[in-house]
Amino acid sequence: MGEIRKIMVVGAGQMGTGITQVFAQAGHEMVLVDLNEQILEKSIGNISSMLERSVKKERITAEQKAATLARITPTLSLEDGQEVDFVLEAVTEDTEIKKDVFRRLDSICQPNAILASNTSTISITLLGGVTERPDKVIGMHFFIPAPVMKLVEIIKGLNTSNETFEQTQKLSGICGKESVEAKDYAAFTVNRLLVPMWNEAMFLVMEGNKPEEVDKAMRLGANFPMGPLELADFAGLDTVLSVIETMHESFGESKYRPCPLLKKMVEAGQYGRKSGQGFYKY
Ligand SMILES: NC(=O)c1ccc[n+]([C@@H]2O[C@H](COP(=O)([O-])OP(=O)(O)OC[C@H]3O[C@@H](n4cnc5c(N)ncnc54)[C@H](O)[C@@H]3O)[C@@H](O)[C@H]2O)c1
Repeated sequence: MGEIRKIMVVGAGQMGTGITQVFAQAGHEMVLVDLNEQILEKSIGNISSMLERSVKKERITAEQKAATLARITPTLSLEDGQEVDFVLEAVTEDTEIKKDVFRRLDSICQPNAILASNTSTISITLLGGVTERPDKVIGMHFFIPAPVMKLVEIIKGLNTSNETFEQTQKLSGICGKESVEAKDYAAFTVNRLLVPMWNEAMFLVMEGNKPEEVDKAMRLGANFPMGPLELADFAGLDTVLSVIETMHESFGESKYRPCPLLKKMVEAGQYGRKSGQGFYKY
């Protein structure tokens, strides 16, 4: 298998934006896809301001910022992925949407291209199963904010090849990330431990505790850098609900039942930081 030069990121939301920045800063030619122009403009604008901050802190030069931005081509068409060596899918956490994207990618991309998903919970084996190349489908799970967080979880589906795993691990290293391997069960390692705790924090709020008090308790009583509700707001409550629902369905364990308050907030469009309102106002 050849070197990974050109990469496509599908989904220019919170994660796709940060991941595109990471790959572009590591020198890759990038194609960034989403459903409308406004999302793409916002995404490129966010990358530009993140890079500008690094220029101000003298971590990179203005020339490096310009070169990184010049490597990114935004587009509305998945068909622009015909020449890429690697795809990182970061669309909405919804099984049907992701299956559809993987089916289309499989027919568009060159046969030797690796198709990776940034999913937080959805089975990599399931996504591989809708393609003709399950050996080249893998989980590459970044953490928010992707340019800052050191870890990537790498998840092999039942039919993912060792070669695909090694290429993905190498790519993580090139991007300056540490990686861990996680098995293909819902929520992998980090979210398997974090999300049930966030969900429990939401039960505390439903029972009448104030979010500020719960977060302060965990910051000062457990030395957490951020409280569970602040962090859940940051990750996006729609995504958090989807993760806990998938865990509940997949393991069939009542301990993963989603907090009714979380469901209500998502019904109300209160997704956290990205929508301006969650457990806190932004
Ligand atoms: N938010 C987190 O903390 C976090 C962390 C790690 C992984 N993830 C995972 O990353 C993925 C994206 O999460 P996010 O927080 O960036 O969500 P987000 O809602 O910010 O972004 C999702 C983007 O996907 C786009 N999209 C939806 N369908 C599409 C399609 N068919 N083609 C192209 N674009 C499409 C949407 O327009 C949106 O811009 C999810 O799978 C999520 O589980 C999230």
